[in-house]
Parts: sequence; structure tokens; C-alpha cells
Amino acid sequence: MKKFKFKNGDQMDLFGLGTWKSEPGEVYIAIREAINLGYRHFDCSPLYGNEPEIGQAFQDAIKEGDITREDLWLTTKLWNNRHRKEQVVPAIEESLKAFGTEYIDLYLIHWPVVFKDHIDFATKCDEMISLDEIPISQTWLGMEEVFNNGMAKHIGVSNFSLKKLKNLFETATIKPEANQVEMHPLLQQKELVNWSNEHNIITIAYSPLGSSDRPEGLKLENEPPILENPTIIELAAKNNCSPAQLIIAWNINRGVSVIPKSINPIRLKENFEANKIILSGEDMLTIASLDKNHRLLDGWFFSMPGSPYTKENLWDE
Ligand code: A2P
Repeated sequence: MKKFKFKNGDQMDLFGLGTWKSEPGEVYIAIREAINLGYRHFDCSPLYGNEPEIGQAFQDAIKEGDITREDLWLTTKLWNNRHRKEQVVPAIEESLKAFGTEYIDLYLIHWPVVFKDHIDFATKCDEMISLDEIPISQTWLGMEEVFNNGMAKHIGVSNFSLKKLKNLFETATIKPEANQVEMHPLLQQKELVNWSNEHNIITIAYSPLGSSDRPEGLKLENEPPILENPTIIELAAKNNCSPAQLIIAWNINRGVSVIPKSINPIRLKENFEANKIILSGEDMLTIASLDKNHRLLDGWFFSMPGSPYTKENLWDE
């Protein structure tokens, strides 16, 4: 299993399990199955509404001797309504309690977007707070606090453009070590990946398979089905693997961490086995040529009229 090595020597499997859209009632069995298959890196968020059930699965797996806490790599995130500096410790405490653990391996700011307190998901512009009012630099002080007090072993961000990541990197006392972003063959973000690699920041690819199980409200019209892309299908056949395995292998082969979600035992196994696939330089170049800078989660849901967030200022494009 390929790993990313952090400055302090900690290592994270590049391949992990996404848990966005894994519903309570089904996620417990999926986590236990994944642990049995060899998954060790799990990506979570309180927004996904399933941390207590995932925590129960970890606790039972540890109790029954399947794994130890030290074997696990646990990533979770700070939600948009907890960006004030003093809200970060209470927010991570809730996740620690849900998982029944004393530390999170990697804690990320989920979005460079702020909601008012007690707003779980803003649907009106007056439920938003701008980054002028609560800048990332303030939130980052809270992130540094949870790093310094040992609640998080590593800290980073998610959905950050290269401009925002550079800005944070240049101004932070404790540097971000990870950036989790949407990434698949139609959105390859090469500049972001290259700059992050040069600065020892691991890029983590979410929605690598196109997240076709998203709620309809989070889908755009005429989305291209990534797993049905003819070039992907052709290259998968050439490498004797499935389209999903090809995309997982492409991420790992370019040094990007990847967290496909599944709750299905057959697909959990299929995805796990992709971590062994080595692609030729020629196949990597063919996949590189598919890039269309095409975002599926382009942030339109934060950009209602009057919102301080626009698609342009969110992605700095
Ligand atoms: P399921 O959970 O039933 O396996 P993403 O990781 O991009 O968010 O995509 C998740 C979606 O892709 C889910 O609908 C998941 O369904 C499906 N999926 C996961 N693994 C595979 C696979 N190997 N082949 C096809 N679809 C997959």
C-alpha cells in the first residue's frame, strides 16, 4: 500500500474510504467489512451525519481485536458553522466523543465558507458570514490550538484553491499538511497538485468516481458520467480492471490520496484491490489528456443571490 509520509514521520495510506453519503443504518457494516478487507484510512465529517455509527464500528473492531487505534487513520472536518477560533475545540470534541477516541489523525477545515452559528446548511444569503468578517486566519488559530493540545495530530484544509492554500501556507505558524478537493479525470487540478507536492502537502481526491449517489439537489444538469467515459472504459479493459479501479489507480500513481465511497462489500473489495494496479506512463498521459476542469460540486449551493460567496471567489478562477 502506497503511503504519504508526514514531516513528523507519521504515514497515511494513500487509499482510504470516503463516508459522505454512507447512511446511518448501513455504514456500520460497511466500516467493519472495510476493516476486514484491509482499509485503514477513513474519511469522515460531522456533516455526513454518521460519525456516531462509524465510531461504534471502530470501537467494536478494536474491542474484538480486528485492529488497534494506532492502525487507524482517522480524518474528519470542521463544519462551516464553527469557524470562530473558540468554536474549534468544542467542534473537534464532538467528533472525538462520537468516535470514542482521544485524537483525530487529520483535522480539516471543510470549506472556505462560513455559516452563522446554528445554521447547519445555509439556504439564504443572510445565513452566511463573509471571509472578511471571519477570515481563514482566525479559524486557523483554532486549528493550531487543536494541533498544539494533541486533539489533532495533523491539520489541513478542504476545497481550497491554490491561491487560498498558498496564502494560508505563507501566513500560518503551523503549516497545513493536506488539502482535500474534488478530483477525477475531468478535474485534475495539476497546478494545485504540483505546488502541494513541492510543499509536502498531501492532496486528497474526493468524489473520485463522480459521486453519482449525490442527492438530486446537489446535481447539475447533463453531468458527464465519469465511469462511462469511453477512454476510461478502454484503458480499464486494457489493464484488466474496472473503470473505478482505473481511476483509483490513476490517483495513487500520481501520488494523490483517494477516498472512494462504497457501502457494498463487492465494490469495497474491488476498490481496495485497485491500490496494487500500476499504470504505464503512456496510460497516465492518456488520462491526463481527459482534463476538462469540470467541477461537479462547483459551490453553486453557496452562491445564492446576495451571498458573499460566488463561484469565482470560491475557486479564485
Ligand atoms: P455503492 O456505495 O453502492 O458502492 P464517490 O466515491 O465518487 O463519491 O462515488 C460513490 C458512488 O460510486 C456510490 O454510488 C458508490 O456506490 C459507487 N461506487 C463505489 N465503488 C464503485 C465501483 N467500484 N464501481 C461502480 N460504482 C462504485
